[in-house]
Amino acid sequence: MSRKSRLRPIETSPLAQGYEVYHYDTVSSTNDVAKELAKRGAKEGIVVLADEQTRGRGRLNRHWISPKGGIWLSIVLRPQISPPEASRITFIASSAVAETLRQLYALDPAVKWPNDVLIAGRKVCGMLTEASTRADIVQFVVVGLGINANVDLQAFPSGVRRDVTTLKRELGHAVEPRTLIKTLLQDFDYRYARLKEGAWLALLREWKSQAAFLHEPVSVAGTGENLLGEAVDIDEDGALLIRLETGVLKRVLAGDLKLRKRI
Ligand code: BTN
Repeated sequence: MSRKSRLRPIETSPLAQGYEVYHYDTVSSTNDVAKELAKRGAKEGIVVLADEQTRGRGRLNRHWISPKGGIWLSIVLRPQISPPEASRITFIASSAVAETLRQLYALDPAVKWPNDVLIAGRKVCGMLTEASTRADIVQFVVVGLGINANVDLQAFPSGVRRDVTTLKRELGHAVEPRTLIKTLLQDFDYRYARLKEGAWLALLREWKSQAAFLHEPVSVAGTGENLLGEAVDIDEDGALLIRLETGVLKRVLAGDLKLRKRI
């Protein structure tokens, strides 16, 4: 039996309607545990929450620092979508995080393409959406959210400290994780229900209204070349349209976007 299958949650609770939270103390990665449960038939709405992750993963397999105090969770979903549409889940999850932080703490968060939520230009949350597909059919999607909630900035290497933030730092006090998770799951569910009803374009418009990088000078790395230009739009497929300094309009499906000035 693998180590993963011997894991037992310390608690399970129906924090929000339709969502059952399996709370673990330490796991490798909540995405990995959620994927394992989904492969074994876990139903839509199972949420894997951990106090800490030993091998938290970000996009492009980057290490995601996940000490105690953060909110590290992954949701199992079984949407009827095609594989390229799975990225829509990332958009609605980041909208839900931004809206929750605004509602609960009167913060002014912004979403950033493709998978970040920022406060005053610093990353407070990242999203990792992974889809399992067979014969071009999505079997399940796991969306993982990492929120730097009650984490001290000292937990991050000095080299990245200026680019990240935590809720504790922004607010000057710790937040109550259960309230945050409950509100977040409720907001996510509202958007997910609309996505299933075909409201993708409206949801994308809402996401864009929460973005602070559109029409700003940006750079995009990770595409084979470093692109410099103005972020013009996000298209219906979730791709970034960037007007290069040469005037050419370029469509980018994946990359690391940076604002060239802090806003
Ligand atoms: C990124 O910004 O690159 C995405 C970060 C995603 C981190 C979360 S934490 C919960 C879930 N488990 C993981 O291993 N990763 C995601």
